[in-house]
Amino acid sequence: MTLKKLLVSMLASVTLVGGAVQAAELSIVSGDTGTGLAFLRSQLDRFEAETGHTVNVVPMPSSTSDQFGQYRLWLAAGNTDIDVYQTDVIWAPQLADQFLDLTEAAADIASQHFPSIIESQTVDGKLVALPAFTDAPALFYRKDLLEKYGKSVPTTWAELEATAKEVMDGERSGGNQDMWGFVFQGNAYEGLTCNALEWVMSNGGGQIVEADGTISINNANAAAAIDRAATWIGTISPEGNLAYQEEESRGVWQLGNSVFMRNWPYAYALGNGDDSAVKGKFDVAPLPAGDAEGSRSAATLGGWNVAVSKYSPDPEAAIELAKFLASADVQKERAIQQSNLPTIEALYDDADVLAASPFMANWKEIFQNAVPRPSAPTKTDYNEVSSMFWSAVHNTLSGNGSAAENLELLEADLEDLKGSGW
Ligand code: GLC
Repeated sequence: MTLKKLLVSMLASVTLVGGAVQAAELSIVSGDTGTGLAFLRSQLDRFEAETGHTVNVVPMPSSTSDQFGQYRLWLAAGNTDIDVYQTDVIWAPQLADQFLDLTEAAADIASQHFPSIIESQTVDGKLVALPAFTDAPALFYRKDLLEKYGKSVPTTWAELEATAKEVMDGERSGGNQDMWGFVFQGNAYEGLTCNALEWVMSNGGGQIVEADGTISINNANAAAAIDRAATWIGTISPEGNLAYQEEESRGVWQLGNSVFMRNWPYAYALGNGDDSAVKGKFDVAPLPAGDAEGSRSAATLGGWNVAVSKYSPDPEAAIELAKFLASADVQKERAIQQSNLPTIEALYDDADVLAASPFMANWKEIFQNAVPRPSAPTKTDYNEVSSMFWSAVHNTLSGNGSAAENLELLEADLEDLKGSGW
């Protein structure tokens, strides 16, 4: 028995005598993005002090795709080492069988959260996870540079291209050879699915697979949107952007080397940190729209939740931890320190939250209109659907085939995968 375990069991017997719940030693897995893990630890320290439980954090890579691959294996093997999982909004239908139903445990708090988010985590009547924060991306732009060049914030992708190029060229001839116009998430993973869904949807090209299960991606508006993005690589975006996830884009941006960036709200607080070259020099706006008929700005709906493994040896304490991490208290701290969007409506009117992250006043509407990825209609096939989509897009961005060619192949692969299902 380790010293920590010994202490925990001593504490447990003490609290048992007092009639309270037995102190447990819990483990939570969480991806590592920005300062997310340090924030989580600070909240867990509070939880430990309040409850007498101890919580160990198992850190995972930042990529949601890598996390999903690992968690699916652990859960399939009935892993008893992990009690609580931090889960992406898209995973609920795929992992529902492996998590406890939290409906009863959350009966007193569910109504604080936006009903659409609770619904996204409910599979066949089972509440699979409790919301920790929601996500809807932004166009981050350099206020100082747009002002210097007399440009307004772009509202279409065509305007973004023109402004990005003009400012980038101007800054380069002014001496900053490292300057780029636009950075985004172009690596072959779930983040590219989010970015490309925005290009397609904002150009009137649909949602890849529609809510009724129809495969819609092979259309001219979608192809035009993806072909357009392919022209960015090596012009306004670096070649290396083909390998960027969130953190790599933020790295270039935060060094002051890009005019625009597509990223999630977490990059707001970090960008205004003392070690940031862009502190106080940027703001955020909705993503641009396309130019085809029916075009409008589109944001992919993201977000993270907490789920309790059905293999947890301490389900009661694990549920207590999940509820704590979804609580208004922790969400408020998250909104202030991490600029993550709350899932609790009341926090959008909180003066401390709005002082720290003023953009949140506008983001409530943006996330409520955000486009869900097709994880509900494609059920347990979502990860495969997404990986076929991001591969088709990545091929196009890399110059391997036109979007029309790649979307035609994608459609055939999706039809095969669907078979008579969905
Ligand atoms: C963000 C979103 C998540 C999405 C991921 C893609 O973490 O919250 O939903 O899947 O980015 O990289």
